[in-house]
Amino acid sequence: MAGNRTFTMIKPDAVGAGNTGAIIKMIEEAGFRIVALKKTMLTPERAGQFYAVHKERPFYGDLVKYMSSGPIVPMILEKANAVEDFRNLIGATDPKKAAPGTIRALFAKSIEANAIHGSDSDENAVIESNFFFSELERF
Ligand code: CMP
Repeated sequence: MAGNRTFTMIKPDAVGAGNTGAIIKMIEEAGFRIVALKKTMLTPERAGQFYAVHKERPFYGDLVKYMSSGPIVPMILEKANAVEDFRNLIGATDPKKAAPGTIRALFAKSIEANAIHGSDSDENAVIESNFFFSELERF
């Protein structure tokens, strides 16, 4: 059965452009409850750890640099079928392929600076949530 929580972070391009509030509004209007939220910044080392699965990809170095270039807003979100429904809300990784009305179609600048991250499985949602939040920060 699909889990009811996912993890997301609003990325440096969208935070820097002042789109944090607009994106959170879309998330809440789509029926997600915010369980945890903060504004923080990743060091290059922590960004590298978060994206360790992409270590062998040609874009890994640039991705780490970009993800540590400015503040981010990580969140844990709750809703039935959270992982899949959230990925539908944000749209495809490449904003040129993202469906109209999705968060990436509206706010992403490029395939790398693509405004927002969403976990791709229940298992990764747990791992990624634990990367940023303790149990005491979840409500
Ligand atoms: P995200 O969903 O957070 O997962 C991995 C990230 O790597 C992705 O969003 C993009 O920010 C980035 N990414 C994925 N594919 C590419 C690519 N082809 N070129 C540059 N960055 C990419």
